[in-house]
Amino acid sequence: MTRLPGAGDGLAPTPVVRLEVEVAGTPRELWLKLEGYNPYGSIKGRTALALWRDVADRVAPDAGLVESTSGNLGLALAALAAAHRVPFTAVVDPRTSASLLYDIRALGARVVTVDVPDGAGGYLLNRLARVRALLRDHPGLVWTDQYRNPANPAAHAAWTAPELHWQTRGARLSVLVAVSTGGTLAGFRQYAAESGADWELVGVDAAGSAALGGAVGPRLLSGLGASRPSVFLPDGHRPTVYVDPGEAVAMCLWLRDTTGIGVGASAGALVAAALRLFLADAGRTGVACLCPDGADRYLDTVYSPDWRRAHGMPAPAPLPGVRLLTTDGPGPLAEGVRW
Ligand SMILES: Cc1ncc(COP(=O)(O)O)c(C=O)c1O
Repeated sequence: MTRLPGAGDGLAPTPVVRLEVEVAGTPRELWLKLEGYNPYGSIKGRTALALWRDVADRVAPDAGLVESTSGNLGLALAALAAAHRVPFTAVVDPRTSASLLYDIRALGARVVTVDVPDGAGGYLLNRLARVRALLRDHPGLVWTDQYRNPANPAAHAAWTAPELHWQTRGARLSVLVAVSTGGTLAGFRQYAAESGADWELVGVDAAGSAALGGAVGPRLLSGLGASRPSVFLPDGHRPTVYVDPGEAVAMCLWLRDTTGIGVGASAGALVAAALRLFLADAGRTGVACLCPDGADRYLDTVYSPDWRRAHGMPAPAPLPGVRLLTTDGPGPLAEGVRW
């Protein structure tokens, strides 16, 4: 590969940090691709760009755009809509991070909060119903529709996946991808099939999510999982690892306290899944986690002792049998300094 994917847009690749971790006595490589360094602070910065390009010709300056979002895509679309001077409405739910809501509003977007649970462990079905009602009531309003729009997986097939492949120098890896709409994982599948990348692609979903065909149940974390199957992955995906909120949170805290790297809840779920895969197979030596966002949008949840206590989560603790050996990132930072 001679040209960095995304370079044509003037966007730098997001950083990849390589950790060497001893798990059950065997050294392993854990690669973290930190998508929080994208424009607008998450992997959805890429998705938003692709969605915007797909609908731009149809957007009327007076009617604008609408999207259902757990927050990350809403912020990225709010920024793009502001830059193109079109109105944007983000349909969110009570789990959307307060910091994201501030930022979305600061960009001039309208926020509609749907606070009636959908009976499938979240709010998605009712958020979608609200979007459809807004489309009925506002002729000309355009829905980017991250749940069905092929531009969503296409962004990751053409951009995110080859970027990771290039950064990890074509290594044989298990690549762990968090799932909500399924757009990221579907894009990675397409890239792997077309490029012959030596990857085992692993879906990581929330316990209680139907995104990849699981049974619905209560879900706590924002951004991971869905109340219905992914349109992009109608037959699900194998292998898939299901993660509980407590495990995801524990891994966010472990990563922060051992490396100084702050990631969001979905990335915590990915690292939990990576450790499970390492423990299950001593021969599995390389895992890459596509970390969708950073700690900044989880300060009042994952990184709040009060929130953790309220949800019955244990205090941060060392992980038995797991030891950080080296990191080629910045390494442990001074007390109180966090990525
Ligand atoms: C926090 C978070 N978790 C998981 C995902 C995976 O989402 P999707 O399956 O919609 O690509 C995303 C977005 O890309 C995200 O921002």
